[in-house]
Amino acid sequence: MTVHFIGAGPGAPDLLTLRGRDLIAASPVCLYAGSLVPEGVLAHCPPGAHIVNTAPLSLEQILAEISTAHAAGHDVARLHSGDLSVWSAMGEQLRGLRALGIPYTVTPGVPSFAAAAATLEAELTLPGLSQSVVLTRTSGRASAMPSTESLANFAATQAVLAIHLSVHVLPRVVAELTPHYGADCPVAVVWRASWPDERVVRATLATIEAAVGEGMERTALILVGHTLGAEDFDHSRLYAGDYDRRYRPLGTAPRFPAGTE
Ligand SMILES: C[S@@+](CC[C@H](N)C(=O)[O-])C[C@H]1O[C@@H](n2cnc3c(N)ncnc32)[C@H](O)[C@@H]1O
Repeated sequence: MTVHFIGAGPGAPDLLTLRGRDLIAASPVCLYAGSLVPEGVLAHCPPGAHIVNTAPLSLEQILAEISTAHAAGHDVARLHSGDLSVWSAMGEQLRGLRALGIPYTVTPGVPSFAAAAATLEAELTLPGLSQSVVLTRTSGRASAMPSTESLANFAATQAVLAIHLSVHVLPRVVAELTPHYGADCPVAVVWRASWPDERVVRATLATIEAAVGEGMERTALILVGHTLGAEDFDHSRLYAGDYDRRYRPLGTAPRFPAGTE
C-alpha cells in the first residue's frame, strides 16, 4: 500500500501529468483538497473509489483516513492543487506518514504561476529585463511570513513576482511595490487560470485596483514585473546566428567540435 501525492494542476482536468492520471485511476481511495482541486480531476478515479474531500478535515483526521486505507491495503491518491512543492501542506503529511511507517510517492503537477503565464502567453524571463521569478505570498492567518521575505525585499531585486494567496490584499501589495517598480509597471491578475470561467485583468500598479474591482477573490494570482507585455527586450544569444554552441558548432575552431560530448 502506498500514498501517492499528486499535483493536480491549476484546474483544467487535462492539465494533469499522465503519471498522475494513471495513479489516480489505479488507487481505490482518493483524498482531495476540495477548496481548489476541481471535481473534473476526480473523473479519473476508478468506479467505486472511496473519495474524500479533505477541506473540512484536520491533519489528524486526514492521517486517520490514510491509516484506515493502509490497514485495508488500499493505495491512496492524495491530490493537491497545482504543484506540491509550494503551499500544499504536503510537508506535514509526509512527516506524519514517516512517523507511521506508511510509504508514499510524490508526482509533480502544473503550478498555478505557470498556468497563469500560459494564459497571458508570457515568457516571464526576458533577456535584458528580468531573469528571475519569485514565487511568494503575503502573510495569512494560517502562515506568517518570515520577516526577511517581505515584498519590498523581493522587489528590490526587480525580479518578476508571482504573488499567491494575496488578491484580497491587493491595495497593500500595490502600496509596497510601487516605490520599487514604479507606478507604470505592468501587473496582471489571473483568476482561476485554466478553469472555464478564467478571468484576466492587465493593468499597471497605478490602475490595477480599479481594474480588478469586485468579484475576483481567492483563487487568483498577481504577476508583477517589467517583462509582462514587453516588446522591447533583447534576443537571447541562444538562437543568434553567430553563436557557437554545443548543438550548432560554428567556424573553423568551434568551442564544441562535432562528435565531442
Ligand atoms: C494554497 S495555494 C496552492 C498553490 C499551488 N500548490 C500551486 O502550485 O500553484 C493557493 C493559491 O494558488 C494560486 N492559485 C491556485 N490555482 C490557481 C489558478 N487556477 N489560477 C490562479 N491562481 C491560482 C492562488 O493565488 C491561490 O490563492
